Amino acid sequence: MLNLTIINGPNLNLLGKREPGVYGSETFEDFLVQLKKAYPQVNFTYYQSNIEGELVNAIQQYGFNQDGIILNPAAYTHTSVAIGDAIASIQTPVIEVHISNVHAREDFRKISHVSAKATGSIVGLGLNGYRLATAWFVDQAANK
Ligand code: DQA
Repeated sequence: MLNLTIINGPNLNLLGKREPGVYGSETFEDFLVQLKKAYPQVNFTYYQSNIEGELVNAIQQYGFNQDGIILNPAAYTHTSVAIGDAIASIQTPVIEVHISNVHAREDFRKISHVSAKATGSIVGLGLNGYRLATAWFVDQAANK
């Protein structure tokens, strides 16, 4: 089994209700059911918090015992040196995911404290970004 942890930051608990024109109308819980069905060989852990320090704690908690972390720090992407430092401090590779195309939005969303510390980033492909990140980790494990 491949152990992957998905960590979502602030306001992503409101997916489905939150600005559906930007983030779609599917809840993350519904999406996760489909993702788990599509990848039965993956043991998914899911964590969401609206609190910056709790996200740092989660990155530290999962950063030494998982095969991969799929991280959407949401608005903290653009502000949190602490989350960037946490990614640099752990062993588990991290893929940064953003549902919307942050480069096509306000200028402040073009800054990421995460991208340079992450193994890679997927932006603008909707919830499919989490699926593609999963596929990458599965592929990496198969080619080890
Ligand atoms: C987001 C993009 C961020 O700029 C925003 O603050 C979010 C969600 C995304 O997934 O597109 O909350 O990370």
